[in-house]
Order: sequence, then C-alpha cells, then structure tokens
Amino acid sequence: MKIYFTEDYYHMSRVAANIISAQVILKENSVLGLATGSSPVGTYKQLINWHEKGDISFRNCKAVNLDEYVGLTKENEQSYAYFMRTNFFDHIDIDMRNTNIPDGQNMDADNECARYNSVIRSLGGIDIQLLGIGHNGHIGFNEPGEAFGKETHCVQLKESTIKANTRFFSSEAQVPVKAYTMGIKSIMSAKKILLIASGADKAEIMYEMITGPITPAVPASILQLHNDVTVVGDKEALSVLKEKSPELITFMN
Ligand code: GLP
Repeated sequence: MKIYFTEDYYHMSRVAANIISAQVILKENSVLGLATGSSPVGTYKQLINWHEKGDISFRNCKAVNLDEYVGLTKENEQSYAYFMRTNFFDHIDIDMRNTNIPDGQNMDADNECARYNSVIRSLGGIDIQLLGIGHNGHIGFNEPGEAFGKETHCVQLKESTIKANTRFFSSEAQVPVKAYTMGIKSIMSAKKILLIASGADKAEIMYEMITGPITPAVPASILQLHNDVTVVGDKEALSVLKEKSPELITFMN
C-alpha cells in the first residue's frame, strides 16, 4: 500500500487526478471504476480542467460505477447517475454509452445484480478503481459485517450511513434504505485501487483500515491484501496515522 500525505482537499484531489490521468494516458481505453460522495468531486473537477485544456481525453475510456440507491430514477438529483453526469460525464468526452451504473429502478435485485456483474466481466475487468471511505469503513456500499466474497448485490444501508448521507437529501426520511453495490470481490478484482479521504472525521477509520486487523467489521481493511493500492489522504484524514505510524507515509509536496 502506498500512502500519500497531502496538505488539503485540493492537493489530495490533484494527486488523485494525476494518478487517474497517468492511467488514461498510458492506456487510452482504460476501464475506470468510479465513485460518488464528496471525496471524489475535486478529483473530477481537476480531470475536467485538464480535459478542457486538451491534456487528457476519455474518448476511448469505459466507466463502471460502484453503486446506486435502489428506487431512485436516473433523473432524481440524489441518484448517483445524476451525480456522475453533473460532476463528471457531462464535462468530458466520454461516450455515455460506455458509462455504467447499477440501475436503481430495476426492482428485481437478482436480475440487476447479475446484469451488472456481466457488464463488469464484459469490460474485461477494471483497470483502476477509485474509492472513498465511509466513517464505518464501508467502501462502495459494502457495510460492516458483509462477507468479503460478494460481487454486485443489494444491501440494506446501516443507520450511520443513512445519517451521513442525509446531508444530500432534504430529510433523513428521504434517504433510500437500500442500494446496489459492487461487492468486495468485484472491488478486489480491479487491477489498481485508488482510495481518497479528506477531513478529520476520517482519521480514525483510515488508521484502522491501514494498520488494523483484516476483518469484515472494517470492510476497507481487506485492501491490505490487494497488491496495488494507493491511498491519498489529506493531513486531517491521515493525522492519526501520522502520529502513530509515520514510517508508512510518503509526504507529498
Ligand atoms: C457513500 C458512498 C461511498 C462513499 C462514502 C463516503 O456511502 N456510497 O462510495 O465512499 O459515501 O462519502 P464521502 O466521500 O462523501 O465522505
């Protein structure tokens, strides 16, 4: 695991965007595993900026997103489909037919999860998977306690995740209680993984993920077993790690 320590959210986003750019420049038809949440917004902004300057093209890339709420239409402003269009896809030259997100409107969970698994397989696997991390260590929507061996499946969101995501909705009651998510097995099959984290509220879970036992109680801890993981955190998110195990960190400037 490479762990890059950055100054702030902007710096974290630039470093993460650099890693994704390098992937796309080296392999123009890369399969990009993408994420939502507040963590990747700055990374997408930086990539859009470089795209607008003519430095990077996503014309031949394919994208596959981690997760989607069950029950929201693609037009719903809280859906991850809407998030991806407004924060990234609408501003770059990716072919929308090459973008994939679980279909939250398909209420037949078995059918939707099987479809999404076959989409990922048909793309030949994910070249680089971008991840954020939830306060309880969830990645995608893989909540604590779930078996590591799962591919795309339907999850019941934990109370703490619903609370954390309430900030995007008008009230807690509006937050969907179920989601489709790639499983840990799908995520671990990606060739490279890039996890980003910002803010003091992520400091404890980052320390646990990196140095704690590998356990379904902290889903992200499984990343210790992947052979190509890069973590980019800002100084607040890596503050506990810096205090307790600074030798694990590469300091960026
Ligand atoms: C949601 C998403 C995750 C994301 C997490 C953290 O639950 N499903 O993919 O990593 O929130 O979000 P944020 O980056 O806003 O802290």
